[in-house]
Formats: sequence, C-alpha cells, structure tokens
Amino acid sequence: MAKEEEAVEVSEAQIAVHWREEQYYQPSAKFVGQANAADPAIFERFKEERFPECFKEYADLLTWDAYWHTTLDTSNAPFWKWFVGGRLNASYNCVDRHLAGSRNKAAIIWVPEPESEETKAITYQDLYTRVNEVAALLRDFAGVKVGDRVTLHLPMVPELAITMLACARLGAIHNQVFGGFSGPACGERIADSGSHILITMDGYYRNGELLDHKVKADQAVARASQDGVTVDKVLVWRRHEGQYASQTPMIEGRDFFMNELLPTYRGAVIEPVSMPAEAPLFLMYTSGTTGRPKGAQHSTGGYLAYVAGTSKYYQDIHPEDTYWCFADIGWITGHSYIVYGPLALGTTTVIYEGVPTYPDPGRPWRIAERLGVNIFHTAPTTIRMLRKVGPDEPSKYNYHFKHMTTVGEPIEPDVWRWYHDVVGKGEAAIVDTWWQTENGGFLGSTLPALQPMKPGSCGPGVLGVYPAIYDENGEVVEAGSGRAGNMCIRNPWPGIFQTIWGQPERFVEIYYRKYCRDKASTDWHDWPYFAGDGAVQAADGYFRILGRVDDVINVAGHRLGTKELESAAITVSEVAEAAAVPVLDELRGRAVEMYVALKPGIQASKEIEDKVSMAIETEIGKMARPKNVWIVSDMPKTRSGKIMRRVIAGISNFTDVGDITTLANPEIVEDVRHHVQSEKVARGEVPRELTTQEAAEIRAFGQAE
Ligand code: PRX
Repeated sequence: MAKEEEAVEVSEAQIAVHWREEQYYQPSAKFVGQANAADPAIFERFKEERFPECFKEYADLLTWDAYWHTTLDTSNAPFWKWFVGGRLNASYNCVDRHLAGSRNKAAIIWVPEPESEETKAITYQDLYTRVNEVAALLRDFAGVKVGDRVTLHLPMVPELAITMLACARLGAIHNQVFGGFSGPACGERIADSGSHILITMDGYYRNGELLDHKVKADQAVARASQDGVTVDKVLVWRRHEGQYASQTPMIEGRDFFMNELLPTYRGAVIEPVSMPAEAPLFLMYTSGTTGRPKGAQHSTGGYLAYVAGTSKYYQDIHPEDTYWCFADIGWITGHSYIVYGPLALGTTTVIYEGVPTYPDPGRPWRIAERLGVNIFHTAPTTIRMLRKVGPDEPSKYNYHFKHMTTVGEPIEPDVWRWYHDVVGKGEAAIVDTWWQTENGGFLGSTLPALQPMKPGSCGPGVLGVYPAIYDENGEVVEAGSGRAGNMCIRNPWPGIFQTIWGQPERFVEIYYRKYCRDKASTDWHDWPYFAGDGAVQAADGYFRILGRVDDVINVAGHRLGTKELESAAITVSEVAEAAAVPVLDELRGRAVEMYVALKPGIQASKEIEDKVSMAIETEIGKMARPKNVWIVSDMPKTRSGKIMRRVIAGISNFTDVGDITTLANPEIVEDVRHHVQSEKVARGEVPRELTTQEAAEIRAFGQAE
C-alpha cells in the first residue's frame, strides 16, 4: 500500500510548470571590456569532450608543492578523487604566496557592526603573521595535529578567517558551525565530527546588541559530552581587548583566552604542511532528510581549485577589486566566496559583522561607498529586506558595483529587477548562482560577460558542469517542455564534497542511489548526482530552480530539515507528534509552521505553543523559530501511518491539498483546515495567491520520505 501511495504523490512532482518568460538583460560594454572571461573560446575549452582535463585550468591557478598525475580518479565511484598525486597547502595559497607582490595590500577589511567602531584592514603581511601565530598556538598549546577536527563556533570577525587558515596551515580539518546555531546544535556537530577543541568568542554584535556567545560554548560542551565526546579545550577570542562579554565563568583548565595565549607565540613561523590534494580541508554540516546533521567533507586541492576558478570567472574577481560577499562565513557561501576563493586570488575581501539594516537601511551602501566595493554578493532574503525598508537608499550613496551575485534561494523576477536597477544602478552584471553546501562552488550560473541575464533563472550549468533534469524514471525532461523534474548533474566536478563525515553509505544513498545506472561501474557517466531540487529548463537551456524536493525548508537561505525541527518539538513533554511545513513569507522566502498533536488528556494552550517555539530555538537556533505552532487533534495520515506533510502545507498556504482519498483519516483535513485558516484570517496572515510554481513546490513537499 505504501508504495502505491508514494507513486501517486510522485507523479505530482512532474506537474507542468508555466511561467512568464522574462526578458534578457545584457551586461554593459564596460563590464565586458574588463571581464576575466570575455572570449567565447572558454566554452570550447570546457566542453564535455575535454572533461575532466579542462579543470587543469582551475588547478593551475594554485601553487602546488607537487603536481598531480591523475586529474580524476573514478576507481572508487562515486567517491571521486581529483588531482591525485598533487600536494599543496590551502593557507600557503591564500596567504604566503601573495606576500611577494602584495604584502601591504588589505587581504581582509573588517567592518564592525557599531558604526562608532573603526573599520580594520588586515594586510597580507599581517594576515600571514596572525595565521602563523594562531597555528603555533593550536599546534603547541592545543596539540592540534594533521587530520584532527577542530570545531569553530565564531561570529563574523576576522578571527574566524584567521583560525580557519591556521587549521589549514597545520593540515587540521576545521568545522565552523554557523554562529547563530544554538549551543546544543553546536555540541551535536562537535560530537559527530569528533572534535576535542572548540574555538569560540565571548560575544558579538547583532542589531545593536552585544550578545553573550560564550554561554553557548558551555551548552555545546555539555551536549557533546552527552553524545560521548569530551572537549578538552575551549579557546575563547575576545570581542573587545581587555573585556569579557559573557556572563559565564571561564572553566579552570578547560577555557583559555586566545588573546592571553598569543603573546607566547609572537613571531612564530609555522611551515605550511604539504597536504595531498585529497586530504579533507573542512567539514560543513548541513540538513537533510533525517535528524542527524550531515558533515559535508570537502577536499583541499579540488575544492580550492574550484573556488579559485569560479571566483575568477563567475565573480569576475581581479586582484585589485574590493569584493564584498554579504553572507555568513558559517555557511558554505562564506567559506568559498568570502575566505578561500577571494584570498586564493589575492584580492581584498570585506567581512561585515552585523545585520544589513543596522542602524538603518543605508548601512550596506555606506560601507560600499566608503570602501569602494565594486563586487557585491548576497542572498534574496537580504535583498527583499533592504527593498522593503529602504527602497530608495542605494541612490543616496556614491558607490558603483560592476558585478553582483545572488545566491541561496530562488529570487523573484521583481526582486531581481530592483537589485539590478536600484542596487546595481543598472550598471552591474548579475549572476544568480545555484549550488549547495555539498557542491563547494557554483553549479548553475551565467558567465557574466558572455551569457545574458534572465531574472529568476540561474542560467545554464557552469563551465565543466553538465546538468540534466530527470523524471522519476530517470528519463531526461527536455528543455522547453515546461515540465519540472529533479535537478541532477551528470558529471563530477572538483569542488564536490568527498563524503558525509563518518557516513559513507548515506552519501551514496542520498546523492547517487536514485539515478545510478550500474553500482559496479567505475565510469562517471553511470553516476549522476541527485541535488534534491526541483527545476525546469527553458528552451534556451536556462534552469529555473523551484526549491527542495526533499524535507528541507529554506528559511532566509538557512537550510532546515523537517526532522530536526520535529525532533526539537517533541522534546516538549506534552507533544506526541510534530510535523514541520514551509509557508510562503514575504521577506524570508519561506518560514516554518509546526503542527503538533498532544498526548492523550492534555489540553491545548498558548503555553504549549510557546514551549514548542522555545524548544526549537534552544535545540537549533533563533533562525529556526516557527512562524506559527498549530495544535491539532490529529495529523492527516496515510494508512501506513505517515504524516502527509503536503496536505498540511497546502492548508498553511491556502492552496490545494491534493488528493486525500488515500488517507486513513480524510475527515481530519477539514477540521484542521478550518482551525488553522480561520485563525490565520483573524490574524491577517492570508498569503497572496501562490504562483503555479510555488503551488507545485508545496504539493511536492514531503514526498521524498
Ligand atoms: O534549494 C537550493 C537553494 O539552496 C539549497 C542549498 O542550500 P545550502 O546548502 O544551504 O547552500 C546555499 C548556498 C549555496 C539548494 O538546494 N538554492 C541555492 N542557490 C539557489 C537556490 N535556489 C534557487 N536559486 C539559487 N541561486
């Protein structure tokens, strides 16, 4: 029975999707004249016949200690190995090699959130000194060795980039957990990665407030220890020299201030450890279909080559640019396009501590004006927010972007146009880059000087990446057919993650099982990568990404797994069952709504709703807080007992709930609908009508289970 029910749901994913074709926008002649990739011959160099050797061009942007003998080794498919035999060090490539020509140039410009605090420029020489000193401390004080995992839970401060590079210098694997994650969420990631060192900061500014961050370290250590991993040392950076921004005591013998230890290592020089191209550089945890977070393991050589190459051609970074990626280093975008890509190319990368609208919506444009930022990179959520609160602000500031990026969520064409016309002043070329934590770098984008922009579409596959949309039977969904399907990549690329840390079977299962043609094959053609996104391809070859087809909700670019949200909700003792669904949100793209059913005999109350919200905030972080918690008498379920998330998602979004005849309890749907929708009407929360595309996403929700 369960199989049959799934078959019905699956066919809905292939629903025809219609949208209004958007006009092309062309980059300016001025942009094209200076672009790194302005000669169409580049497409020849990266065409499929030249794969995988075409990626030598990216690897040659790096300095290797030993050149590789095999570009791509597929012998243990799908655990691809890139640039085998090559050796290099990532910190050497991002720091040391720029000293000869750019010693006194700013590598990092850090903008603190309070405007009264001075902006700080860190030159390549200074970065070199600081990375070496921190590496010496980690090695000699904390005992960090090649291959050790080191968890970082740091906010947007230069110390984060410095600590990452110090780990890389030693050949240790850094594991930065997004600063907004709660202490317990950080602890789970410490335990899963097997880290014995946690590096954190006492506090940081967010929206004008100095937040206590060290308190989360204590919770993290406690959770890790519950999960069987002991943290030996907690190293704490101070936000303000000589002060302590936290209420929590420093634990004797466990907690140490970095700023107090560092003088011992003054002037230390640590030889960068020459690492095999295939050595892991870092872990980046992300969410998926089950509750346990997945540690995406990224390589040194392939990853660094890929981010350097895509930064050069897609971000159009030249060494003399001032580049500002307004994302968080705690996410993959920040690793690849704030730290590793720009620094590998020897440019100046801007790091901003705070929120976009603090103290007012002119802030980003003042930063751009003051620093002469000419490349700007952010997410649709930030763009939507800035448009809402300060639609005319950009015109008040004298900055000029040659290039802008959007990443992380589908962008509405209307929002895209504001970005282009108002933020970019009609002068900037825009790339809409589609990719994921697992991918290391961009997968879908236009090449800015050579392919026109189309609002709402990311563009075709990037150089050397050959995507295809497959239906549930593995047949290609043709471009221009108007049908949606599963976004896949037919070939490996150097930035692809190597495995899920400690869970190789899950790696194969999630990303490759669905479309693998022959499990025994060592030919990459038999192993298409399943991205977990729905997409449509227009006749011109451009992809429009529709959103996740698995149980992931993308809230303001934060990827939240329904299972993680639900596990957090059922930590509330009154809750028997919980289901998380996405609801359209004007600013954040999607928000989370929780449906909970209570244990027998327990009365619904506002108090229980608040407890559920609080549990989610405690277990995951503030960014995961649900928009609403609905207490229902029962959940719509299949006869095999599975909660039908698409039905409740339909209710939350005031859209069609689809076929409910196969439910075990179809009568409950009307009850739940009445309860939720009448309350939403009373609160003025009726969403606008969904586009066909959005409705298709909601209908497909939950089907991956
Ligand atoms: O659904 C896609 C969406 O974000 C997901 C990946 O999230 P994460 O691993 O956190 O990485 C975000 C930054 C790389 C994808 O599966 N997504 C990402 N970029 C886009 C996008 N959706 C539409 N358009 C994009 N440009």
